[in-house]
Amino acid sequence: MKTETTIQGLSASLQTARAARKVIGFVATMGNLHEGHLNLVREARRLCDVVVVSIFVNPTQFGPNEDFDNYPRTLEQDSHLLAEVECDILFAPSVEQMYGTQPRLTTIHVEKITEDLCGLQRPGHFDGVALVVTKLLNIVQPTYAFFGEKDYQQLAVIKQFVQDLSIPVDVIGVPITRAGDGLALSSRNGYLTVEQRKIAPIIYQLLQTSSARLKEGATLDMVLRDIRQSLTEAGFVVDYVEARAVNLSHVESFEQDVVLFVAAKLGNTRLIDNLVVKYSKLIG
Ligand code: PAJ
Repeated sequence: MKTETTIQGLSASLQTARAARKVIGFVATMGNLHEGHLNLVREARRLCDVVVVSIFVNPTQFGPNEDFDNYPRTLEQDSHLLAEVECDILFAPSVEQMYGTQPRLTTIHVEKITEDLCGLQRPGHFDGVALVVTKLLNIVQPTYAFFGEKDYQQLAVIKQFVQDLSIPVDVIGVPITRAGDGLALSSRNGYLTVEQRKIAPIIYQLLQTSSARLKEGATLDMVLRDIRQSLTEAGFVVDYVEARAVNLSHVESFEQDVVLFVAAKLGNTRLIDNLVVKYSKLIG
């Protein structure tokens, strides 16, 4: 595996692949890699000739009181993991390499779907994501780009601007990778204390129970209210518990496929999860 830290170096590394019309697959990450990330890389490996993974903790998507400075940076360990899953090129640029020293006057703002769910608690977050992902897609110019369904809203935002801006890439969503006890893997799980880590899987348990209850005829309002209450009783501070259609439009009732979304804090650690519930009632 090659490591490139500059845009020029990466372009030079990809020149032969581009000339030979190889299928280039791209996975964008902020590092501190776990099996969730590695499954995206494995999917890229399965479908593509050349696999590029970026590791870049993107300052523009962190709010002023968020964990940019403390975000875990584990490049050496990540680099070993990527070599094991046969990544071809690791792109690990500096902030200066990505953003330069000149003032930036351009923003990429996706309307509507960013003004909901995580967008309400994290103003500007998705603008930062849209900006850096646009830059990375322009730099790498992949055939396919892989993003996790763990960050469902992020994936929807990326699909939207890729379509709106006619960026020539196929965006592929990859299912959530979970720990054995159901907790969705996340770099932020490392912030949890031993005690909090034991409580955290309740999120997924509640999502699963709610899915079953909806199929048995419970209303959305009932299950959302019960999730909020159970999370609070377990010691979480709930950011939001919501249901949306798969395209993130609002839904009143369970009469189509819905996605249940949870964002909740345990101590200082914010956890998110979601579950798609197919519209198929168990009883008529
Ligand atoms: P990061 O949190 O490092 O995640 C990188 C990619 O891994 C994202 O597409 C995310 O959805 C996916 N991912 C993380 N945990 C996952 C899990 N348990 N199962 C499946 N996929 C998972 O998301 C970002 O970085 C950044 O916002 C980024 C897109 C890189 C832009 O800076």
